[in-house]
Amino acid sequence: MCVATVGFVSILGVSLLWLPEPRVVEPRVSEVNRPVTLLIWTHPFGHYSRPPDCFELYQIDQCTLTDDARAYPHADAVIVHHREVATGKADLPPEPRPRAQKWIWMNFESPTHTPRLGHFEDVFNLTMTYRTDSDIFVPYGYLFPRARRNKGAPNHFVHPLRVPTRSRLYRPRLVVWVVSNWSESHARVAFYYRLTRHIRVDVFGRAGRPDAKGQQRGAPGRKAGAIPVVLGPSRQNYERFLPPEAFIHVDDFPTVRGLARYLLMLRRNPSRMRRHLDWRGSYSMHQASFWAEHYCTACNAVMRNRGRTDVVQHLAGWFES
Ligand SMILES: *[C@@H]1O[C@H](CO)[C@@H](O)[C@H](O)[C@H]1NC(C)=O
Ligand SMILES: *[C@@H]1O[C@H](CO)[C@@H](O)[C@H](O)[C@H]1NC(C)=O
Repeated sequence: MCVATVGFVSILGVSLLWLPEPRVVEPRVSEVNRPVTLLIWTHPFGHYSRPPDCFELYQIDQCTLTDDARAYPHADAVIVHHREVATGKADLPPEPRPRAQKWIWMNFESPTHTPRLGHFEDVFNLTMTYRTDSDIFVPYGYLFPRARRNKGAPNHFVHPLRVPTRSRLYRPRLVVWVVSNWSESHARVAFYYRLTRHIRVDVFGRAGRPDAKGQQRGAPGRKAGAIPVVLGPSRQNYERFLPPEAFIHVDDFPTVRGLARYLLMLRRNPSRMRRHLDWRGSYSMHQASFWAEHYCTACNAVMRNRGRTDVVQHLAGWFES
């Protein structure tokens, strides 16, 4: 139904990353073929999920995941999810920690939703987040060229992206915005007001517009064939993760009116619209599976980092930068 998602998104909203070297959980033969025990210290946000079997899911051998605190004295690593220890719902594991044990700081929230970072300097040994410069990098998702993966074994992560059929290129409703937090102080809201002077924008989402009759919908998403219209980080930054034609950046236009005219032109011009969608034929998408993929990726990383000493020294300065 929609052509463009006016995706004024925070970093969490950028859920699809095109990475030059995608980090899929690959089976890995450890140099030192010794089993790793990973202790899940708290279940993120208090939601229980059964510790995964990394061999069954990802053919990663030698990983034992447990949420039983009695494993603490012999665990090779402990995964600590930030929210619970920051809010006092859980304490950090006890000190002194077993020699060679790694504490992994796990957090997938934006900096504004990551309270009391300053309390955790020099506590952890490895970071695990969506930032590319984490010790253990787990993006929310990413795109990868189709050919690359098709050569290997069939991969159950793959979501093929479809190029919409000709009839679906015609969109009776052109622009939609899905928004969960509406504040008059947000730049995105100011931009919305300016844009609606030139083009109709349908608003969905948890917060929606004050007058948007509380419509609850999931994000239309890329699977639906939307073209994101983005604001915030530079085009250059987005292009680290997406083919250049896969999105429209508001900075591509000198005026808001120019953007609106371009969007209206797309509606009349299916071949031009197709230029923003053709890349889909060459890419597949991976979406991370919470939390099994994270735990198994961490276990792999612990095998790789065995015998090393790492200390996360400037957690707040780094994560908020
Ligand atoms: C919504 O945005 C306001 C203003 O930026 C912010 O203070 C608040 O924490 C946000 N709320 C949520 C639930 O994200
Ligand atoms: C982990 O971090 C602690 C606290 O900074 C440090 O004392 C310890 O040597 C580190 N251990 C490893 C195995 O990296």
